[in-house]
Amino acid sequence: MKRTVPLLFTTLLVALPAGAGDMDQRVAASRDAVKSFQAALQNELQAAMKSGGPVNAITVCNTKAPDIAAAISKKHGWQVGRTSLKLRNPANSPDAWELKILQLFELRAKGGENPANIDFYEVVDSGGKKEFRYMKAIPIPEGMPCLTCHGQDIDPKVQTKLKELYPKDQATGYQRGGLRGAFTIRQPM
Ligand code: HEC
Repeated sequence: MKRTVPLLFTTLLVALPAGAGDMDQRVAASRDAVKSFQAALQNELQAAMKSGGPVNAITVCNTKAPDIAAAISKKHGWQVGRTSLKLRNPANSPDAWELKILQLFELRAKGGENPANIDFYEVVDSGGKKEFRYMKAIPIPEGMPCLTCHGQDIDPKVQTKLKELYPKDQATGYQRGGLRGAFTIRQPM
């Protein structure tokens, strides 16, 4: 008797219109990818801080962050990265669409929305092809050492190392709870 239930579900799923379901799936998959990206970054960061302190951790962020982004991009066949209005690495510069969404996130956070829950997606035209784009805000959360390298009062040794690697660094002066930037995903459709 139990068999009839899954069979019924299968029929219903097949009968659903593709558009809405496809979109929900892309959003859910993007949210998952961002979660694994964030978890991988935080694991690397915490391990590096523990084993060699913040100066060592800067070198790890410098090499591991782009590596992790590249691995997740490859796994999904998407472009996955991080961007910000105040950049450390110029390679993370936003394009016009990302800039618009970063500004929108600032407004939403100022309007009282919890930055941990702010995200946005849109299907855009990219050179005549449809592309799914997704962004998720990156706040500076409680209990994370972000301000050691992005805060207002940075240890001189850390400052020296940051200057050496990122002479045009703008990503300092942040406060707890502030909006640091966003994860960004592009999926071909
Ligand atoms: C040990 C120093 C250090 C700590 C701690 C640190 N970061 Fe960074 N952060 C960096 C470095 C170095 C880069 C540049 C990475 C690169 O080259 O892509 C960076 C880049 C970023 C970027 C990409 C945008 C940009 O400006 O290039 C974001 C977003 C970011 N950090 C957020 C955070 C958050 C959130 C935390 C806390 C969970 C954090 N960082 C903790 C050193 C640090």
